[in-house]
Amino acid sequence: MNILFLMDSWDKIDPESDSTIRLIHEGVSRKHTVALATVHNLTMRESSALAFCQVFVKSDTVPANIKTFYTKARFRKVKLPLGGFDAIIMRSNPPLNVTALNFLDSVRDDVFIMNDIDGLRIANNKLYTSSFDDPHNRFIPKTYVSKTPDYLESVLEASATDKMIMKPLDGYGGSGVIMVEKQAIASFHSLLEFYISNNDRGNYVILQEYVEGAEQGDVRILMLNGDPIGAMKRIPASGEVRSNVHAGGSVVKHSLNKTEKELCKLIGPKLVRDGLYFVGIDVINGKLIEVNVLSPGGIMRINKLNRTKLQVKVIDFIENVVNAKETIQARKTEFMKAIEDA
Ligand SMILES: Nc1ncnc2c1ncn2[C@@H]1O[C@H](COP(=O)(O)OP(=O)(O)O)[C@@H](O)[C@H]1O
Ligand SMILES: [Mg+2]
Repeated sequence: MNILFLMDSWDKIDPESDSTIRLIHEGVSRKHTVALATVHNLTMRESSALAFCQVFVKSDTVPANIKTFYTKARFRKVKLPLGGFDAIIMRSNPPLNVTALNFLDSVRDDVFIMNDIDGLRIANNKLYTSSFDDPHNRFIPKTYVSKTPDYLESVLEASATDKMIMKPLDGYGGSGVIMVEKQAIASFHSLLEFYISNNDRGNYVILQEYVEGAEQGDVRILMLNGDPIGAMKRIPASGEVRSNVHAGGSVVKHSLNKTEKELCKLIGPKLVRDGLYFVGIDVINGKLIEVNVLSPGGIMRINKLNRTKLQVKVIDFIENVVNAKETIQARKTEFMKAIEDA
């Protein structure tokens, strides 16, 4: 199989904790042809999309240790047509590079793209959770999104609870996530102006109901093809509202409880319908806080806690999809030949 990882720079990877390198390692270990490129390496030549790639030089033995694999990796630099890949795995961090999707549009019928381009378009920021049908906020916290400071101020004033969470629409790793309190409303307008207006067009801001129990942490669940494959609990550092590991959160083993399993069952079919085959969801007290679709992380930590190798499942899934596509194509060719020969 030929796999292209569209990702951030290889040189910036932390092999200790990175999820993408675990997927790459699994692909290379299975002797697939694995190429890497960033979204800035895409190019178009006479309507053919290509990428300046780093292709792994194949060797008989692939180091089992990820850090050794990282330091020993050797590449050839070549320009390759995107349409020649069996699978393109999108693994670059938010915000979404929309232009990259335009390059991929031209090969979407020929290549399995994970996650699907349309899925990435509709789910690349935190508005996506609002597209789940949940009129009574059973599993989606009350969420308000706006660029209008006066409106957001009135939301906080009218809030049934004293505190709310404020965050940027397309942040990640906990950046910009803060708690706002009614008693500090005097500074709220200035804070909103800062969040909204640090460029000409302004940024959308989210105000969200503070989900009770968040002090004890949140649960990161990795979902593959609509089903949970692994989870961990992230506990915030003391005095911190964010559970993200990048914000100092620590991780502990976690088995999904009944509510969390139900949540996965509720949202799984829509994720698959939207082409969101591999995602990381953040859940607090059974409520869905966020669906990470661009480059969900947590593989290394969940593996360590549960002695699993989730990358095996992900690459198995990609192989199955590609094999199924090939079987369909072979049948089609056979049938076409039967018609031509008739
Ligand atoms: N509505 C909320 N109630 C309580 N805590 C929250 C809420 N939203 C976010 N948090 C905390 O902040 C963290 C980061 O928020 P999240 O929406 O996942 O943004 P990011 O994309 O930056 O990870 C969450 O993991 C959680 O610990
Ligand atoms: Mg998150």
